[in-house]
Amino acid sequence: MALYALGDLHLSFQVHKPMTPFGRVWKNHERKIEKYVNRIVKPEDTLVLTGDHSWGRKLAECREDLEFIERLPGRKILLRGNHDMFWDAKKTERLNQEYAGRLFFLQNNFAAYGDYALVGTKGYTFEGPFYLDRWGNITGWDEEREIQAEKLVEREMTRLRESFRQAREAGFRKYILFLHYPPTNILEETSPFTEIAEEYGVTAVVYSHCHGERRFGDSIRGDFHGIRYMLVSGDFLDFRPALVLP
Ligand SMILES: [Fe+2]
Ligand SMILES: [Fe+2]
Repeated sequence: MALYALGDLHLSFQVHKPMTPFGRVWKNHERKIEKYVNRIVKPEDTLVLTGDHSWGRKLAECREDLEFIERLPGRKILLRGNHDMFWDAKKTERLNQEYAGRLFFLQNNFAAYGDYALVGTKGYTFEGPFYLDRWGNITGWDEEREIQAEKLVEREMTRLRESFRQAREAGFRKYILFLHYPPTNILEETSPFTEIAEEYGVTAVVYSHCHGERRFGDSIRGDFHGIRYMLVSGDFLDFRPALVLP
């Protein structure tokens, strides 16, 4: 039994959204996903997909993408990404009823993995715009948008606290924290997400959303204050699921 994670599949079996303009790594990326996930993940394993599953805007436009995910081996747990328009934040329970036994949608709830609780939410990160001088140094940013971002961070923190609360109430003391957005923005060294990770003593924080060489270093990777931070964006991993726990 092992726990794997992979993010940002960006599937589009029903809508026209070619990913090749975003780089060669995206060429036939769904075939790579199928090949590597089938090679790496065993039926008894758990695979957490950290959001941006589908380009469809409504559930009806995502059915084939979700069926593709269903056919992948192992137990599949899905996190909400910023592009997952099919997933109304208030309708997570309804999705869980409809896909019971096939897919699990992680938000305002948690999933058990051995003696670990898998907790998580979409998260949020301020992404600018930033203003640069002619050498490329940041000299300022859109402060109005930053204030708006703080509100969105707070809303996501409410959801995340609920996920932790339920897991702790069920008796769990070991946690893996999943986010779609990176835990910190490029101006921050810590954030409410890193703080709650430390408060609960999580083993790892797993996130994605960052695409392309220039963005892979936007947030924390590796060990920080005793916690392992893992970036699992599909293009970062060339669509090979990353091992979170053996
Ligand atoms: Fe993405
Ligand atoms: Fe994203």
